[in-house]
Amino acid sequence: MPELIPILKRDEIAIKVAAMAKAISRDYKGRRLVLIGVLKGAFIFLSDLARHLELDDVKIDFLRAASYGEGTRSSENIHLIKDIDTDIRDKDVLIVEDILDTGLTMAFLIEHLKAHSPKSIRTCAFIDKPERRKIPIEADYVGHRVKEGFLVGYGLDFAEDYRNLPDIYHLKID
Ligand code: IMP
Ligand code: MG
Repeated sequence: MPELIPILKRDEIAIKVAAMAKAISRDYKGRRLVLIGVLKGAFIFLSDLARHLELDDVKIDFLRAASYGEGTRSSENIHLIKDIDTDIRDKDVLIVEDILDTGLTMAFLIEHLKAHSPKSIRTCAFIDKPERRKIPIEADYVGHRVKEGFLVGYGLDFAEDYRNLPDIYHLKID
């Protein structure tokens, strides 16, 4: 049986999300921001983050990239399953990810969105896990950094399970 070891409780998550929203609100004051959530993992984080933003012009869209299969190993073969339908030309875009791991997904998404000619693109990841990074990329906004391990909860899944958990856990599989 997989073992779940708590690493971040919901109240700690809430404090970190609020701090990220504060920084984003400060940086994008007076600008037109489009949040682009990366499905499925970012759905809870994005909904929390969006409600904390103190900005007048915020739009929200989603895309979906296939990266992980049914396991914990990263696939090099990133491709888009669902694209955005918002016009992001000349808009400020913030990609909202659950977790930045190898960086392959984020690098792919940045290249993909650049083709839509936005004014700017920045990135935001609730969890940064630099251990397995394959592409030298850092998120502009990070909620929490972990050294290693496979995490579940708060949107993060293992084979589609555990996304609904309000806290974040380290999943240990023997
Ligand atoms: P990357 O392309 O390796 O950076 O992977 C990014 C995607 O892999 C994330 O959006 C997650 O969906 C998934 N992922 C990476 N690490 C974890 C983890 O520890 N738990 C759950 N999903 C993960
Ligand atoms: Mg995922």
